Amino acid sequence: MQPKILLTGRSGQVGYELFQTLSPLADVYAIDVQDVDLSDVSALERFVRCLGLIDMIVHPAAFTAVDLAEEQPDLARAINVEASRILAEEAAQRNIPMIYYSTDYVFDGSRSFDSCYTENDSTSPLSVYGLTKRDGETAVRTICKKHCILRLCWVYGLRGNNFLRTMLRLYHQGKTPNVVYDQIGAPTWSRIIAMTTAIIVAKILNVSPSEHAEYSKDSEFPWGTYHLSADGVASWHEFAAAIFVAMNRQTGQKIELPKPILSAAYPVKATRPKNSRLDNNLLSVTLGLKLPDWQTQLAWCLDAVKNE
Ligand SMILES: NC(=O)c1ccc[n+]([C@@H]2O[C@H](COP(=O)([O-])OP(=O)(O)OC[C@H]3O[C@@H](n4cnc5c(N)ncnc54)[C@H](OP(=O)(O)O)[C@@H]3O)[C@@H](O)[C@H]2O)c1
Repeated sequence: MQPKILLTGRSGQVGYELFQTLSPLADVYAIDVQDVDLSDVSALERFVRCLGLIDMIVHPAAFTAVDLAEEQPDLARAINVEASRILAEEAAQRNIPMIYYSTDYVFDGSRSFDSCYTENDSTSPLSVYGLTKRDGETAVRTICKKHCILRLCWVYGLRGNNFLRTMLRLYHQGKTPNVVYDQIGAPTWSRIIAMTTAIIVAKILNVSPSEHAEYSKDSEFPWGTYHLSADGVASWHEFAAAIFVAMNRQTGQKIELPKPILSAAYPVKATRPKNSRLDNNLLSVTLGLKLPDWQTQLAWCLDAVKNE
């Protein structure tokens, strides 16, 4: 019989892809706000109490509207911290593993641009969103021993509100945007995140441990926090320019490339880290997993957009 996984955030960028990549491994019970509103503590407590047997919780759902979180800190906290705490308590009580997704926004981004953040670096969020995701991490880490916290960076994909879709809309309108060049990170396709998560889930379920990683079939899964982002580095401007170059090549048009601006010229409510680079070494050494570079992921994703 297949194991059962509870998956939150079914319609989100990452959750939607996870539903597909986890399905061959498990019977996935995928939920969204229509099933249970994560901001409603008692509804969530009732929901988890009534759940039948499950073998794992995978929890990408979150309040992800970074600027709106500055105006609605209580709602962001209820979803990102309290709901994660309740799910972690349930996982701990059932002695099952939990995967929680976190973010580069737990860091303040003040590191020099030639270095990356490791899992051991201290967190210091600049925004309500970053703070609530950090506190969600802490809750999961403290409550549920069998946790795997995956910190992501600059997620984009075929669904929802994300940078790639905004750039594609502007491109198709023939508009040339101004894009900040003084924030750097690693744009990562939600599908690759979901594929990588499925491999991690398989390892946790002991389906297919890698011969090449420190973790092997006979050892317990190395619970903990992992950075999981595309290889390489880009500024938002470089990412935008790469999208426009690829689209010009694909369509034969000559839309003018995005113009670089400083983030000071693009005021937003929540302060973003300047350096969002995550060091992915632990994922590679411990679990034998390495994501392709952001240019390759972008090319694959644009192919998928074209074939939609
Ligand atoms: N996007 C990024 O750049 C980024 C970067 C680093 C880390 N992360 C983290 O990665 C994870 C996945 O991100 P994502 O980009 O896939 O997020 P997303 O597209 O915004 O999806 C979030 C999901 O959470 C659900 N949700 C929100 N409020 C809810 C509520 N009150 N009750 C039930 N469900 C609720 C949403 O449902 P509705 O669609 O119905 O609202 C949606 O399905 C998150 O934990 C995020 O913090 C994201």
